[in-house]
Amino acid sequence: MRYDIAVIKGDGVGPEVVGQAVNILAAAGQKFGHVFELHEALMGGCAIDAAGVPLSDATIDICKNSDGVLLGAVGGAQWDFLPGHLRPEAGLLGLRAALGLYANLRPAALHPSLIGACPLRPELAEKGFDLVIVRELTGGIYFGERGRVGETAFDTEVYSAGEIERVGRVAFELAGKRNGRLCSVDKANVLESSRLWREVMHRLRDEYPGVEYSDMLVDNAAMQLIRDPRWFDVLVTSNMFGDILSDEAGMLTGSIGLLASASLGAGPLGLYEPVHGSAPDIAGQDRANPIAAILSAAMLLRLSLGLDEEALSVENAVTSVLENGYRTADIWSGGCKLVGTREMGRLIAGWIT
Ligand code: IPM
Ligand code: MG
Repeated sequence: MRYDIAVIKGDGVGPEVVGQAVNILAAAGQKFGHVFELHEALMGGCAIDAAGVPLSDATIDICKNSDGVLLGAVGGAQWDFLPGHLRPEAGLLGLRAALGLYANLRPAALHPSLIGACPLRPELAEKGFDLVIVRELTGGIYFGERGRVGETAFDTEVYSAGEIERVGRVAFELAGKRNGRLCSVDKANVLESSRLWREVMHRLRDEYPGVEYSDMLVDNAAMQLIRDPRWFDVLVTSNMFGDILSDEAGMLTGSIGLLASASLGAGPLGLYEPVHGSAPDIAGQDRANPIAAILSAAMLLRLSLGLDEEALSVENAVTSVLENGYRTADIWSGGCKLVGTREMGRLIAGWIT
């Protein structure tokens, strides 16, 4: 089969890690007889430099006309002086909104060969964990009204029942396909938007009797995640809480450089990006971990293209390379083989063919 893939490399380490993810797609294509036609588009700081805006209509069109979008990361200190709506990050938020990608899936599982890289006590880490954060992605405080009045600034958290329900359904369905447990995380003891969030989740709970449902306040969830991440199966939460908790969950896997994500909407089109950012401090040094981008490409294969076997072969290749002791600097420890971004990508591609 032939597929159109939009490729947005972005800023910082984005081009390096996406470069490896693209090589992995090519390797999987060769093995399974697919052609992935790549369509490059600009977004973020590089788009500001090239055209003055972080996200152009041309980029949105390329994405809409594709079967899936592979994205690196955006942002960097040189664009920090710009007003909020012109910053690189505004491009990312604009793209998520333009494509209607309201559900962001961020799986975090501890790989057996990375137990030593997990910051938890060994006796906890050894038990492993496997959870998915479902983060609402096109609403909440990220998209509510914001502004300044004199020396006062405000950002508003706004959620409609419809926005909560559609991401809630994604989470309930996912929990049903996994271990059947869903924890909804909010701040219903303080925020009205969280109280609505909880009400809507409770309505859904009655529709999914097969799912064991619980509510948790976000401060407690931050604690429970490091007390015993095994307790969680699927965790659903708002845009900002999901942003914060997914970095925490990422670190528990050993490094945020391992965490992939899929952003999905009503149709098959999705945006796939590593959870880590543009890491300008290590950009261009062949040091970034490409595994998050490569596992994001695997999610693209599975969730947008329906290519389960191909996705699994990429995931297995990553597992094999880790089991053979190869590590990028973020997860390296004594006794392992330290490799750069390109070599890590080459090794993983080698396990696919
Ligand atoms: C993420 C990032 C983004 C977000 C930034 C870069 C706007 O932190 O995808 O987690 O907050 O959504
Ligand atoms: Mg984040």
